[in-house]
Amino acid sequence: MTKDRVLSGMQSSGNVHIGNLVGALQNWVKLQDKYDCHYFIADWHALTTGYADPSSLQDSVKDLLINFIAAGLDPEKCTIFIQSKIPEHAELHLLLSMITPLGWLERVPTYKEKQQELKEKDLATYGFLGYPLLQTADIIIYRAKYVPVGVDQVPHLEISREIARRFNHIYQDVFPEPEALLTEFPKVPGIDGRKMSKSYDNAIYLSDSPKVVEQKLRTMTTDPARVKRTDKGNPELSPVFQLHKVFSSKEEQDEVAVGCRTAGIGCIDCKKVLIKNIFKVLEPIWARREQLLSNPEQLKDITDKGTEKARKTAQETMKIVRKAMGLL
Ligand code: TRP
Repeated sequence: MTKDRVLSGMQSSGNVHIGNLVGALQNWVKLQDKYDCHYFIADWHALTTGYADPSSLQDSVKDLLINFIAAGLDPEKCTIFIQSKIPEHAELHLLLSMITPLGWLERVPTYKEKQQELKEKDLATYGFLGYPLLQTADIIIYRAKYVPVGVDQVPHLEISREIARRFNHIYQDVFPEPEALLTEFPKVPGIDGRKMSKSYDNAIYLSDSPKVVEQKLRTMTTDPARVKRTDKGNPELSPVFQLHKVFSSKEEQDEVAVGCRTAGIGCIDCKKVLIKNIFKVLEPIWARREQLLSNPEQLKDITDKGTEKARKTAQETMKIVRKAMGLL
């Protein structure tokens, strides 16, 4: 019995933080036993917003690859590759652009939102508008059935389905319509209480040293109304407690919540429990990162193998696509 194919990618534009870990990577790890998983590093997508300064792109790709494996992706079980090493993605992107109405791209909500959010950058580019189309090519070139993504990516997946449908309708039935594999995961706040994000400079990164992680957590915002040690607090208003919900056992959560409400424990006590639990998750990751950082050959070997395997599939799809579109 062949396994259904799962595909997902992550943009290489900076560090991976613990929000990405619990929101995406840990889920990817779970899926690798059940599905034929393909996971890749979207370095072309990183250029859609980062084209003006590519100086750190190489390092970001390498670090993301290290984090993929350090987080538990197993190259024996899943196919790991780098987008730009498979030029067929670009060819499919081009061919799909012939049949993609401009309005579909302009209507993707993230298009205008992201432009607003990144006002300092000039994103009135063809490549940025085409972001979801390139993403569509990434997915359907593998005729993937499922795409594990966060809710923020649902509009992108919707356009991928529409484009697949349009291709099948105009030419021939080549592409399954990819389905989002939505993962429920709790919101992960950053150390200032806002959503964890590299643009807010409030994130805890997998590449942070134990010292840095501890220090970040120690300075993390708590219930702002709890000023003195003797003040009673409300855990629901504390971002630290939100992290407990992700990383601590139910018993520990109950314990620190009661301690907070009664002023039985101080914020530092509460944070100590959290630090211990986050360390438990990060320690094996730190160890694997160390090992991989000193082993560039191993990394190259993993992506070479993954790329070769993925490329074969992509090439097979492109043969059919070219034929369907009158190209021989
Ligand atoms: N947009 C994804 C991100 O923000 C990256 C990505 C590119 C992707 N192509 C994809 C995700 C295909 C899933 C499927 O990181």
